[in-house]
Amino acid sequence: MKHLLKMSDLTREELFHILDVADELKADRKAGRAHPLLAGKSLALIFAKPSTRTRASFQVGMYQLGGLAHYLNAVTEMQLGYGEAIEDTARTLGRYYDGIMIRTYKQSDAEALAQWSGVPVINGLTDYAHPCQVLADLMTIREKKGRLEGQKLCFVGDGNNMANSLIVGGLMAGMQVSAVCPEGCEPSRTVLEYAKAYGDKFTLSTDPKAGAQGADVVYTDAWISTGSEEEQLLRRRHFRGYQVNEELLALAKPDCMVLHCLPARKGEEIAVETFERHADEIFEETENRLHAQKAVLAILMGGR
Ligand code: CP
Ligand code: NVA
Repeated sequence: MKHLLKMSDLTREELFHILDVADELKADRKAGRAHPLLAGKSLALIFAKPSTRTRASFQVGMYQLGGLAHYLNAVTEMQLGYGEAIEDTARTLGRYYDGIMIRTYKQSDAEALAQWSGVPVINGLTDYAHPCQVLADLMTIREKKGRLEGQKLCFVGDGNNMANSLIVGGLMAGMQVSAVCPEGCEPSRTVLEYAKAYGDKFTLSTDPKAGAQGADVVYTDAWISTGSEEEQLLRRRHFRGYQVNEELLALAKPDCMVLHCLPARKGEEIAVETFERHADEIFEETENRLHAQKAVLAILMGGR
């Protein structure tokens, strides 16, 4: 594993290795054992979109690993925002940093950074993928359910970055995955192609009730993602009927978990009551961003 750009770059072994290291680092942290695996190393954090969790967890994570993280605003502060080429940004940062995390729009920009920088690149969210989030999600499910194999994961909502990465990650981990997306908001064609190899372990439908039937985990994401704010009204109308709420969860297993990558727009993709009932799981998932990303960093930059 040289970079983490999308879930399909990983092998199943690499995926489980990340989860195992993440569990280990979490246990260390809880027990107060320091693990300065990246002492003297530095990580650039490039952000072309807003963030709370990704930014904070990478910064704190690098600190806990004994390294340094720099936040770089790609819109207003970096030359990248004023026309410098991504390949020149890559070749520059690769000379200073031991690794780069990027949150941006185009997946091709993250791929170009990996191609040109000469250091490990981590995708901290693009329009296509959010692998760091899915690693934390899988870690959380395994923690609560004891295993991933055979669990049914149902994603309800917009078939964009989260859905794309969850489908690939869930199937790779041995889960059964049902994606429920309204017409015109289906996951990427590449992801649907990937899922074909898993036969009936994957289903795509427009019917939340069918998708949530017997689910062990129900997952949702905002209807209005970064970059789609102008379509707010249209999207709210289009996604009506796709809310994760108590009525929908009545069809899932009685001990069904509810996860959300956050930020949530409560009352839209998830009912307030449902969010609060599952808040412990959702915020454990948020915490696990820290541990899962530290595992990725330790593997990519520290040879774990
Ligand atoms: N889930 C997630 O990536 O959150 P942020 O946008 O706050 O980083
Ligand atoms: N789909 C959301 C995910 C945020 C973590 C977005 O792209 O904004």
